[in-house]
Order: sequence, then structure tokens, then C-alpha cells
Amino acid sequence: MSRLLRTGLNAGEAAPMAVVGGEGVYFHLSDGRKLIDGSNTGGGLGHRHPAMVEAIRRAADTPVVNEGWTWVGREQAADDLMATAFKGEEDWVGAVRFCISGSEANDMALSLCQALTQRSALATRERAYHGITGLSRAMTVQPQWHGGLAVHAGGSKLPAPMAPVRILPAPDGAIYGAPAGNAPPSEYLADAPRLLSDTAATIIDYTQGGIYYDGAYQDEVARCARQAGSYWIADEVVTGAGRAGRWFAFQGAQSRPDIVTLGKSLGGGAAAVAAVVVSREIVERLKGSSWQNYGTLRGHPISMAAVSAYLKAVTDDRILEHVQKLEKLFTRRLLDIAQKHPSVQRVAGQGLHWTVELHGPDWRTWHADTTEVPIASRVAERALEAGAVIGTSGEQTSLFLAPPLVISEQEAGLLLDALDHGLDVADAEHG
Ligand SMILES: Cc1ncc(COP(=O)(O)O)c(C=O)c1O
Repeated sequence: MSRLLRTGLNAGEAAPMAVVGGEGVYFHLSDGRKLIDGSNTGGGLGHRHPAMVEAIRRAADTPVVNEGWTWVGREQAADDLMATAFKGEEDWVGAVRFCISGSEANDMALSLCQALTQRSALATRERAYHGITGLSRAMTVQPQWHGGLAVHAGGSKLPAPMAPVRILPAPDGAIYGAPAGNAPPSEYLADAPRLLSDTAATIIDYTQGGIYYDGAYQDEVARCARQAGSYWIADEVVTGAGRAGRWFAFQGAQSRPDIVTLGKSLGGGAAAVAAVVVSREIVERLKGSSWQNYGTLRGHPISMAAVSAYLKAVTDDRILEHVQKLEKLFTRRLLDIAQKHPSVQRVAGQGLHWTVELHGPDWRTWHADTTEVPIASRVAERALEAGAVIGTSGEQTSLFLAPPLVISEQEAGLLLDALDHGLDVADAEHG
């Protein structure tokens, strides 16, 4: 028996594959197989990217400096982030504080907003996942991942959340299976001003639950939040730093957030690093007060070297342009796949993050700890035969694709072929 208390993304009892190595977009397994890593939001530049390997090697030779002391590499990473990713955003962006995970970044951002507004309520949208610690867990309102013990009847085995939580309706755009006659956000967000009226922050992400970026939605939420005195946090933990095909998803519309949270790919997959970026206005408000939110290993020299190296690699390798090109390929191929497989209900995505939803139980009734392997996990299992690892986030009818941003067109074709192959399992059951 393994002494490791495991957790997993794919539901069911199947033993997780054992990874012993990797190269580029491939995982190398203990049984000798080499599989395309098709759903790894943390793996921005794939495995063993030479620039990342070199940066981490050099950083191993640095002192151990905690967040309380100035470390030149941390100042450098902050400057690099502003000069590359936030280039063109100078009129509103203020400063960054680094941390270790997306959950931590969101918890820090949300508690800062509570402190600034002296309000405790917080808002998000339906099906959101913002993390698994502190206030980020309170804002994770999707039913199957909440940080507690899964229960068969749905619902959460957790005490009441740490803060009153308001839930906004989500947009439901899709390239396939979108509902006919979609109403404009101003209509379905008509109640937002009331819902947000006593909230400290409104946090919105751009992928979770298969809900993707919608510029009109973002502008309307931003408008309502501003009016209500609620800080708008753009949770770009998944989409930020390149996955959306631009530095940040929020750049697709007019509105600009008060706070941006980043994580996952920010260290190029080579280090555990995340960040909270606040507006100039917040920096001004913080003058004269001490934001007492500190972590021993935050801003560690190795993580900081990873951030600087990642930002440089994305720029040098023209990764954003590459992701934009691949977005077109994914759109075209996924539409073909959806039309071919009757089991597919909906396909949505942006850049290099895509969700394929199958017909089956509605997400409100999903069971997180089902003993029967859910249909999405069985599709993922069949896709392994065709050479790719596809994730399900523990969801019963959703599959998601998020390969390393360096995936080539040819490798992307193989990944989509594997999905195509896997979906035969779902078709057979769909009848
Ligand atoms: C939108 C979003 N926010 C926050 C998080 C939490 O990040 P982490 O797993 O690094 O704590 C995730 C993780 O999947 C996420 O998808």
C-alpha cells in the first residue's frame, strides 16, 4: 500500500498513471509509454523546456531569502512581469505580491478586499472554482470540488462557508451546443446590482465549469461591481500568462480589474508560484498601512527565477501568436469532432483551454465520489490507447484539453485524434 494520501482529478478507482519523466509535450510513464500531456494547466512550457531548466539550475545557487527581506531576483521578477505581461496596461496597474498557489493568491486578494471595504460578503459566478484554501474555497461554488468530503447526494460535507457568498449567473457561449437565442448579459445580470450591493469583491474566472471569456459579460459585471463598491478580481490563474492567446483574458474587452490573480503557468511549470497584482488605486489606498499577509516561502529565489525565465521564453518563442494559431486549429477540429459524435453536447473554449461536455447527468447532480467510473473518465481512459492524457477534473460528463503552450500543430492533431477515438465509448452508450 502506498503511504501517500492521494487526490486525483479523474473520478473512479482506476490507478493513476505513474510518470517517471517527460520531454516537450510528452509524459514518460513507468511502463515505457510516452503520452501527450493534454490537460495540464500548470505546464505552460511543457516538460524540461531548456530555458526553464537552465534558469532553475542557476537559481539553485542562490541564497535562501524569505519574503520579509529584499531579494534582487524578486524585484526583477516584479519588473519583468510589469514590463512584459502588463505592457500597455500602465495607466491602471500598480504592483505585485508573489505567493505559491492560485488558491493562496485568491485568498489573499479576497481578504484584502474585505479589509479595504470592511464588508464580508463576496461574489462569484455559477460553477466557479477559485481554489481550495481559505476564502478561495468559500468561493468555489461548483458542487464536486469544495475541499471537504464528497457525498453521494451532491452538496458539500463542509460547515457553512467563511463568508456570505453571492452567486451571479454565468454566460453560456459555446462554439457548439450554445442555447438558441442567448440573452444579452444586461438582461440575465439584471439582479447583479442588488446581489453585489454589500460585497467586498466580485471574483470572476474564465474557464471553470466550461464557462469561458465573454467580453460583454465582463464589462457588465465590472460596471455593476464598480457601482456597488465591490472590487473586481480577475482570476486569471488558468488563463493568465498566455493560455488565452493573449497575456490575460480580460484584455479582450474595455473594462480593467482592480486585482488580477495569477498562478499555474506563471513559473513555466518549473516552480510553484502565483501572484496578486493590484491596481494603482489600491497601491495608493495601502499607503500608510501595512498589508499583513506574509508567507515564508513566497517569492523564493527559485520561483522568482522561474517567473523571469518564463516571461522571457514566452516573448522570445512568440508563444502568444502560436496559441492564437492553435486556437483556430482547435476550433475547426473540435467542431468536426462534435458533429461526428452524438454523445457530445457542448464545446467551448479559448486559446489552449477547451471543454467538451457530454450528454448525461446535469452538473448540479454530479456525484464526486461515485464508485462507478463516470463516462468522462472512461472516454479519457480510451484516449490513453490513442496516446494522449485528457483530464476530466473529476467531473462526470466534462473533458478538458489544456496542453502545454508549446504543443506543435502536429502534436495537437494527435491529441485531438485521441479525443476523437475516446469519444467512441461515449457514443456507444449514448445510443
Ligand atoms: C480559476 C482557478 N482559480 C484558482 C485555482 C487554484 O489554483 P491552485 O490549484 O494553484 O491553488 C484554480 C485551479 O484549478 C483555478 O482553475
